[in-house]
Amino acid sequence: MQLNQVKIILKRLYKDYVKRYFKRIILSLILSMVVAASTAATAWLLDPAVKKIFLERDRTFAWLIPLGIAITFFSKGCSLYFARMNLIIVSARIGAELQQQISNFVLTTDVKTLENKHSGNYISNIMYDTSAVTGLVSTGVLNIMKDSFSLVLLVSLMFYQNWRLAMFAIIMMPLSMIIAKSLGKRIGKAQTEASNKSQAFVIFFSEIFKASKLIRIYQKEKAENKKAQKVISESMEKNIKISNIMIRATPIMETLTGLMIAGFIFYSGRLIDQGNLEINSFFSFLAAMMLAYQPIRSLATINMTIYQGATAAKRIFSVIDEPIETKNNLSLPNLKINNCNIKFKDISFHYSNTKEKAIKNVELEIKGGSMTALVGPSGSGKSTIMNLIPRFYEAQTGKILIDDQSIHEVNLESLRKNISLVSQDVVLFDDTIKGNIAYANSNASEDEIMEACEFAAANEFIEKMPQKYDTIVGENGVRLSGGQKQRISIARAILKKTPIILLDEATSSLDSESEEIVQNAISNLVKNKTTLVIAHRLSTIHNASQIFVIKDGKVLEFGNHDYLIKNSAAYKSLYQKQLK
Ligand SMILES: Nc1ncnc2c1ncn2[C@@H]1O[C@H](COP(=O)(O)OP(=O)(O)O)[C@@H](O)[C@H]1O
Ligand SMILES: [Mg+2]
Repeated sequence: MQLNQVKIILKRLYKDYVKRYFKRIILSLILSMVVAASTAATAWLLDPAVKKIFLERDRTFAWLIPLGIAITFFSKGCSLYFARMNLIIVSARIGAELQQQISNFVLTTDVKTLENKHSGNYISNIMYDTSAVTGLVSTGVLNIMKDSFSLVLLVSLMFYQNWRLAMFAIIMMPLSMIIAKSLGKRIGKAQTEASNKSQAFVIFFSEIFKASKLIRIYQKEKAENKKAQKVISESMEKNIKISNIMIRATPIMETLTGLMIAGFIFYSGRLIDQGNLEINSFFSFLAAMMLAYQPIRSLATINMTIYQGATAAKRIFSVIDEPIETKNNLSLPNLKINNCNIKFKDISFHYSNTKEKAIKNVELEIKGGSMTALVGPSGSGKSTIMNLIPRFYEAQTGKILIDDQSIHEVNLESLRKNISLVSQDVVLFDDTIKGNIAYANSNASEDEIMEACEFAAANEFIEKMPQKYDTIVGENGVRLSGGQKQRISIARAILKKTPIILLDEATSSLDSESEEIVQNAISNLVKNKTTLVIAHRLSTIHNASQIFVIKDGKVLEFGNHDYLIKNSAAYKSLYQKQLK
């Protein structure tokens, strides 16, 4: 990352996050000054200590100076504690705010944005990047303030004690700055690589959890273990590399300090010979110089902390700045449902990562209060059509109307409020059965929940469970069968009590008997409701008032079952294949 880019990021970090803690920063600044003054005072006290106690043998100073030293250390310790604590609070709050923004982004952004990146990337943003920014704000800011004040005071003291010696020491300083700069560049590179590795790390581990059975049946434990080893060791190597660059400053700075002290003692000898240096000044100067070593080292490596924090902040900003296309625009009117007719007018759509259109010039008329079915081979675009209604994706051309209102001209909240969707892949939370169903409506009474379960033919198996409705289903419902999970998700959709119900192969995991029960229940339920179903078994949609045959993203034919079986070759062949 370029220097001016780092500046832009830091400016934004300050303006948007740090600025509102201005008072706390000022307080830490004042406390840092106290730390710096106490540090310089300890060095300064050696001057009277040597002079009064050792040379003049003054009794009063013999206890006054040790007392003074004890007080300076005490004040340094206390002010450092409070300055640190203050900045830890500020940085922790900023970290939490960033995490909040990332999670809010994940919750509100477009489906397509989330599909374009592995979820591990976002987890890595939340875990690692925010902690790097927190580090920048806590240690970075504190060290800049505390160490630069300390350095200024210590160098002033050095000049005060003996300007000739001070000049000599100052010459060494630019050297350390040059070293620090070159280290900063290298660390930046390593840091970027490391963050990529940390993302790969999170992605790998989230995948092996999901694929636990797959790995065992294909006996890939060894292969996956090798991958794990690779991912782990790469991340370890990167961490070593970074730490190595970080602490590489240490031997260089130590050697430099050693050279400085050696030269300094040599030069002091000459100054004392010439009568240009007093012994008490010498000790005080020596102490100041040794104390200056820590702030110099810390300031020399501070740009690494800043760089790390800034690159992490950049990654976070690039996530939360991503524009959201499908937003809830409250200035738009609410969707008003009358008959609940849904119309697709010349809809074409392609996914953002493909050029080929998934659906082409689709025209549909879905009559309100009835059941409409989409049939067609897999990959023909049925799910895509369904996903356009709640605006999970936005069609590039054409219009979708619900009771003559374009879904783009009503606010999103009112649109989605009127739609229930059950998709093929059921998502359940690690909660009770009741909790999972009530997700649709947290105010639902027990009776309403049980009624929904009856419609979904779910009550029977739930009653047989050890804790009935209070049974915990496990991560994504691992403790339930596929059919049971589907029935719970149907019950959940029923509980939402919406005029529009979308069922995307919602009964595919059920045996034909339960599928019929559920379909019947749904067709009871869908009186006065508009239901769009993609059915797994064509036999279950006989009674649909309208069936659209979809192929290659286009509507081939439509009509009811009797009409299509006579007039549509495509429908007939689909139907006959299933009967075999
Ligand atoms: N999220 C997606 N990103 C890119 N392409 C997709 C996505 N979902 C589906 N597709 C593609 O769009 C086409 C239609 O898919 P889909 O609507 O799921 O078919 P169906 O539900 O009829 O089986 C397929 O070619 C599929 O590969
Ligand atoms: Mg599908």
